[in-house]
Amino acid sequence: MMHLLSTVALAALASTASAVVGDWQQCGGMNYAGDTQCATGSGCVVLNEFYSQCQPGAAPAPSTTAAPAPTTSASPTGGTPITTGTPSGTGPGKTLQSGYLWIRAVAAPNFHKYIQTKPLYSPGTALLGDYTTAGQLQVVSGQLVQLVSAPGEPEKLLYANVSEERTINNASLAVTFSTTKNTYGTFKFGGDDLQWSVAGINRPNPSAWYVCTGQALYINLGNYMYQTPSGCADQTIHYYNDKTANA
Ligand SMILES: *[C@@H]1O[C@H](CO)[C@@H](O)[C@H](O)[C@H]1NC(C)=O
Ligand SMILES: *[C@@H]1O[C@H](CO)[C@@H](O)[C@H](O)[C@H]1NC(C)=O
Repeated sequence: MMHLLSTVALAALASTASAVVGDWQQCGGMNYAGDTQCATGSGCVVLNEFYSQCQPGAAPAPSTTAAPAPTTSASPTGGTPITTGTPSGTGPGKTLQSGYLWIRAVAAPNFHKYIQTKPLYSPGTALLGDYTTAGQLQVVSGQLVQLVSAPGEPEKLLYANVSEERTINNASLAVTFSTTKNTYGTFKFGGDDLQWSVAGINRPNPSAWYVCTGQALYINLGNYMYQTPSGCADQTIHYYNDKTANA
Protein backbone atom coordinates (compact mmCIF):
# COMPACT_ATOMS: atom_id res chain seq x y z
CA MET A 1 0.00 0.00 0.00
CA MET A 2 2.79 2.42 0.88
CA HIS A 3 4.34 1.72 -2.46
CA LEU A 4 1.08 2.39 -4.29
CA LEU A 5 0.48 5.63 -2.38
CA SER A 6 3.96 6.94 -2.96
CA THR A 7 3.76 6.09 -6.66
CA VAL A 8 0.51 8.00 -6.96
CA ALA A 9 1.95 10.95 -5.05
CA LEU A 10 5.04 11.02 -7.26
CA ALA A 11 2.93 10.83 -10.40
CA ALA A 12 0.83 13.74 -9.18
CA LEU A 13 3.96 15.76 -8.42
CA ALA A 14 5.48 14.96 -11.77
CA SER A 15 2.37 16.05 -13.64
CA THR A 16 2.20 19.44 -11.91
CA ALA A 17 5.93 20.17 -11.69
CA SER A 18 6.67 20.18 -15.42
CA ALA A 19 5.10 21.01 -18.72
CA VAL A 20 7.24 18.40 -20.45
CA VAL A 21 5.32 15.27 -21.40
CA GLY A 22 7.00 12.03 -20.36
CA ASP A 23 7.78 9.12 -22.64
CA TRP A 24 4.72 7.07 -23.64
CA GLN A 25 2.38 9.81 -22.39
CA GLN A 26 -0.15 11.67 -24.50
CA CYS A 27 1.07 14.82 -26.26
CA GLY A 28 -1.75 15.51 -28.71
CA GLY A 29 -4.92 14.35 -30.42
CA MET A 30 -8.48 15.44 -30.92
CA ASN A 31 -9.91 17.03 -27.77
CA TYR A 32 -6.58 16.82 -26.01
CA ALA A 33 -5.88 19.94 -23.96
CA GLY A 34 -2.77 18.96 -22.04
CA ASP A 35 0.94 19.61 -22.49
CA THR A 36 2.44 18.87 -25.88
CA GLN A 37 6.19 19.22 -25.44
CA CYS A 38 8.04 15.89 -25.25
CA ALA A 39 11.28 15.45 -23.33
CA THR A 40 14.59 15.96 -25.12
CA GLY A 41 15.25 12.98 -27.35
CA SER A 42 11.57 12.13 -27.66
CA GLY A 43 9.11 13.05 -30.38
CA CYS A 44 5.35 13.42 -30.43
CA VAL A 45 4.08 10.63 -32.68
CA VAL A 46 0.53 10.63 -34.05
CA LEU A 47 -0.96 7.18 -33.44
CA ASN A 48 -4.49 8.03 -34.48
CA GLU A 49 -6.66 11.12 -34.72
CA PHE A 50 -7.35 10.95 -30.99
CA TYR A 51 -3.98 10.15 -29.61
CA SER A 52 -0.41 11.30 -30.10
CA GLN A 53 2.29 10.05 -27.81
CA CYS A 54 5.86 10.99 -26.81
CA GLN A 55 8.17 8.24 -27.97
CA PRO A 56 11.88 8.08 -27.18
CA GLY A 57 14.01 8.39 -30.28
CA ALA A 58 11.13 9.53 -32.47
CA ALA A 59 11.76 12.51 -34.68
CA PRO A 60 10.01 15.56 -33.24
CA ALA A 61 6.74 16.10 -35.03
CA PRO A 62 6.23 19.20 -37.13
CA SER A 63 5.13 22.11 -35.00
CA THR A 64 1.42 21.25 -35.10
CA THR A 65 0.32 20.15 -31.69
CA ALA A 66 -3.14 18.94 -32.61
CA ALA A 67 -4.12 16.05 -34.82
CA PRO A 68 -5.15 16.94 -38.39
CA ALA A 69 -8.62 18.46 -38.69
CA PRO A 70 -11.06 15.62 -38.28
CA THR A 71 -13.69 14.88 -40.91
CA THR A 72 -16.05 13.79 -38.17
CA SER A 73 -17.61 15.69 -35.31
CA ALA A 74 -16.10 14.44 -32.12
CA SER A 75 -18.29 13.61 -29.21
CA PRO A 76 -16.24 14.45 -26.12
CA THR A 77 -18.42 12.44 -23.82
CA GLY A 78 -18.06 9.52 -26.17
CA GLY A 79 -21.72 9.17 -27.00
CA THR A 80 -22.72 8.77 -30.58
CA PRO A 81 -19.95 8.69 -33.18
CA ILE A 82 -21.07 10.79 -36.11
CA THR A 83 -20.08 9.49 -39.50
CA THR A 84 -19.20 11.66 -42.41
CA GLY A 85 -16.78 9.26 -44.10
CA THR A 86 -17.76 6.77 -46.78
CA PRO A 87 -18.89 3.59 -45.09
CA SER A 88 -17.65 0.36 -46.60
CA GLY A 89 -20.99 -1.14 -45.64
CA THR A 90 -24.46 0.09 -44.80
CA GLY A 91 -24.42 -1.84 -41.58
CA PRO A 92 -26.46 -4.86 -40.57
CA GLY A 93 -29.21 -2.84 -38.88
CA LYS A 94 -30.54 -2.83 -35.36
CA THR A 95 -31.64 -6.48 -35.24
CA LEU A 96 -29.00 -9.03 -34.40
CA GLN A 97 -28.19 -11.20 -37.41
CA SER A 98 -27.87 -14.94 -37.04
CA GLY A 99 -24.50 -15.97 -35.62
CA TYR A 100 -23.56 -12.45 -34.52
CA LEU A 101 -23.32 -10.80 -31.12
CA TRP A 102 -23.22 -7.36 -29.60
CA ILE A 103 -20.12 -6.71 -27.49
CA ARG A 104 -20.31 -4.11 -24.73
CA ALA A 105 -18.94 -2.89 -21.44
CA VAL A 106 -21.18 -3.40 -18.43
CA ALA A 107 -19.55 -1.04 -15.93
CA ALA A 108 -19.06 2.72 -15.60
CA PRO A 109 -17.87 4.86 -17.27
CA ASN A 110 -18.80 2.91 -20.40
CA PHE A 111 -21.85 1.02 -19.19
CA HIS A 112 -23.66 -0.41 -22.25
CA LYS A 113 -21.32 1.14 -24.75
CA TYR A 114 -20.83 -1.21 -27.69
CA ILE A 115 -17.98 -2.08 -30.03
CA GLN A 116 -18.23 -0.28 -33.35
CA THR A 117 -15.93 1.46 -35.77
CA LYS A 118 -15.31 5.07 -36.55
CA PRO A 119 -16.37 5.80 -39.25
CA LEU A 120 -19.30 3.44 -38.79
CA TYR A 121 -19.21 0.13 -40.70
CA SER A 122 -15.86 1.11 -42.21
CA PRO A 123 -12.20 0.40 -41.67
CA GLY A 124 -11.11 2.60 -38.79
CA THR A 125 -10.62 2.88 -35.07
CA ALA A 126 -12.32 0.32 -32.84
CA LEU A 127 -14.25 2.10 -30.13
CA LEU A 128 -17.05 1.71 -27.62
CA GLY A 129 -20.01 3.84 -28.63
CA ASP A 130 -23.74 4.29 -28.47
CA TYR A 131 -26.14 1.34 -28.56
CA THR A 132 -27.96 2.83 -31.57
CA THR A 133 -24.88 2.26 -33.73
CA ALA A 134 -23.65 -0.96 -32.10
CA GLY A 135 -21.64 -3.28 -34.31
CA GLN A 136 -22.50 -6.94 -34.83
CA LEU A 137 -19.55 -9.23 -34.24
CA GLN A 138 -18.44 -12.78 -33.73
CA VAL A 139 -15.18 -14.62 -33.14
CA VAL A 140 -14.24 -16.99 -35.96
CA SER A 141 -10.98 -18.93 -35.93
CA GLY A 142 -9.36 -16.42 -33.59
CA GLN A 143 -10.50 -13.39 -35.60
CA LEU A 144 -12.89 -10.78 -34.22
CA VAL A 145 -15.18 -10.27 -37.22
CA GLN A 146 -17.65 -7.42 -37.73
CA LEU A 147 -20.55 -7.69 -40.19
CA VAL A 148 -20.92 -4.38 -42.04
CA SER A 149 -23.28 -5.26 -44.90
CA ALA A 150 -27.05 -5.02 -44.74
CA PRO A 151 -29.16 -8.20 -44.61
CA GLY A 152 -29.63 -9.46 -48.16
CA GLU A 153 -26.57 -7.62 -49.52
CA PRO A 154 -23.39 -9.47 -50.45
CA GLU A 155 -21.63 -10.11 -47.15
CA LYS A 156 -18.99 -7.57 -46.12
CA LEU A 157 -16.78 -8.20 -43.11
CA LEU A 158 -14.16 -6.26 -41.20
CA TYR A 159 -11.52 -7.82 -38.95
CA ALA A 160 -10.20 -6.38 -35.70
CA ASN A 161 -6.52 -5.62 -36.32
CA VAL A 162 -4.24 -5.51 -33.28
CA SER A 163 -1.20 -3.25 -33.54
CA GLU A 164 2.07 -4.91 -32.56
CA GLU A 165 3.36 -1.54 -31.44
CA ARG A 166 2.99 -0.81 -27.75
CA THR A 167 1.41 2.50 -26.98
CA ILE A 168 -0.03 4.34 -23.91
CA ASN A 169 2.37 3.64 -21.02
CA ASN A 170 4.10 1.04 -23.18
CA ALA A 171 1.41 -1.37 -22.02
CA SER A 172 -1.41 -1.09 -24.53
CA LEU A 173 -2.13 -2.12 -28.10
CA ALA A 174 -4.36 -0.14 -30.45
CA VAL A 175 -7.17 -1.93 -32.27
CA THR A 176 -8.54 -0.93 -35.66
CA PHE A 177 -10.97 -2.65 -38.00
CA SER A 178 -9.63 -3.61 -41.38
CA THR A 179 -10.76 -5.47 -44.48
CA THR A 180 -7.84 -7.87 -44.09
CA LYS A 181 -7.41 -10.45 -41.35
CA ASN A 182 -5.48 -9.82 -38.16
CA THR A 183 -2.02 -11.33 -38.04
CA TYR A 184 -1.14 -10.57 -34.43
CA GLY A 185 -2.62 -12.75 -31.71
CA THR A 186 -5.93 -14.48 -31.19
CA PHE A 187 -9.36 -13.41 -29.99
CA LYS A 188 -11.69 -15.67 -28.07
CA PHE A 189 -14.52 -15.56 -25.57
CA GLY A 190 -13.73 -16.65 -22.02
CA GLY A 191 -17.23 -17.04 -20.64
CA ASP A 192 -18.80 -13.91 -22.11
CA ASP A 193 -15.57 -11.86 -21.84
CA LEU A 194 -13.83 -10.88 -25.05
CA GLN A 195 -10.18 -11.86 -24.65
CA TRP A 196 -7.05 -11.54 -26.72
CA SER A 197 -3.74 -13.33 -26.35
CA VAL A 198 -0.51 -13.79 -28.24
CA ALA A 199 2.44 -16.12 -27.81
CA GLY A 200 5.26 -14.40 -25.94
CA ILE A 201 3.13 -11.97 -23.90
CA ASN A 202 1.93 -13.24 -20.56
CA ARG A 203 -1.02 -11.00 -19.77
CA PRO A 204 -2.04 -10.84 -16.12
CA ASN A 205 -5.66 -10.48 -17.26
CA PRO A 206 -6.59 -11.50 -20.82
CA SER A 207 -9.95 -9.69 -20.45
CA ALA A 208 -8.41 -6.29 -19.63
CA TRP A 209 -9.14 -3.42 -22.04
CA TYR A 210 -8.75 0.31 -21.92
CA VAL A 211 -11.21 2.81 -23.34
CA CYS A 212 -9.32 6.06 -23.87
CA THR A 213 -9.73 9.46 -25.48
CA GLY A 214 -12.35 9.43 -28.22
CA GLN A 215 -13.69 6.14 -26.80
CA ALA A 216 -10.90 4.28 -28.62
CA LEU A 217 -10.43 0.71 -27.48
CA TYR A 218 -7.02 -0.68 -26.52
CA ILE A 219 -5.81 -4.02 -25.24
CA ASN A 220 -4.39 -3.51 -21.74
CA LEU A 221 -1.32 -5.71 -21.44
CA GLY A 222 -0.87 -4.79 -17.77
CA ASN A 223 -2.97 -5.28 -14.71
CA TYR A 224 -6.66 -4.53 -14.61
CA MET A 225 -7.54 -1.44 -12.53
CA TYR A 226 -3.94 -0.66 -11.66
CA GLN A 227 -1.90 2.31 -12.87
CA THR A 228 -4.65 3.26 -15.29
CA PRO A 229 -3.22 5.74 -17.81
CA SER A 230 -4.68 9.23 -17.64
CA GLY A 231 -7.51 9.62 -20.14
CA CYS A 232 -8.32 5.92 -20.07
CA ALA A 233 -10.80 3.73 -18.20
CA ASP A 234 -10.36 0.06 -17.33
CA GLN A 235 -13.11 -2.09 -18.82
CA THR A 236 -13.91 -5.68 -19.53
CA ILE A 237 -16.17 -6.22 -22.53
CA HIS A 238 -18.81 -8.90 -22.92
CA TYR A 239 -21.03 -10.35 -25.57
CA TYR A 240 -24.76 -9.81 -25.39
CA ASN A 241 -27.15 -11.67 -27.64
CA ASP A 242 -30.56 -10.12 -27.14
CA LYS A 243 -32.27 -9.26 -30.43
CA THR A 244 -31.52 -5.54 -30.06
CA ALA A 245 -28.79 -3.56 -28.33
CA ASN A 246 -29.97 -1.39 -25.48
CA ALA A 247 -28.78 1.49 -23.35
C1 LIG B 1 -3.10 -2.85 -38.38
O1 LIG B 1 -2.74 -1.87 -37.43
C2 LIG B 1 -1.42 -1.38 -37.59
C3 LIG B 1 -1.15 -0.44 -36.45
O2 LIG B 1 -2.22 0.46 -36.23
C4 LIG B 1 -1.30 -0.70 -38.93
O3 LIG B 1 0.02 -0.25 -39.10
C5 LIG B 1 -1.63 -1.70 -40.01
O4 LIG B 1 -1.63 -1.05 -41.25
C6 LIG B 1 -3.00 -2.28 -39.77
N1 LIG B 1 -3.24 -3.32 -40.75
C7 LIG B 1 -4.31 -3.32 -41.50
C8 LIG B 1 -4.44 -4.48 -42.43
O5 LIG B 1 -5.16 -2.43 -41.44
C1 LIG C 1 8.18 -1.65 -23.40
O1 LIG C 1 7.84 -2.93 -22.89
C2 LIG C 1 8.60 -3.98 -23.46
C3 LIG C 1 8.06 -5.29 -22.94
O2 LIG C 1 7.99 -5.31 -21.54
C4 LIG C 1 10.06 -3.79 -23.12
O3 LIG C 1 10.81 -4.82 -23.72
C5 LIG C 1 10.53 -2.45 -23.64
O4 LIG C 1 11.84 -2.22 -23.24
C6 LIG C 1 9.64 -1.35 -23.09
N1 LIG C 1 10.03 -0.09 -23.71
C7 LIG C 1 10.21 1.02 -22.98
C8 LIG C 1 10.69 2.20 -23.72
O5 LIG C 1 9.98 1.08 -21.79
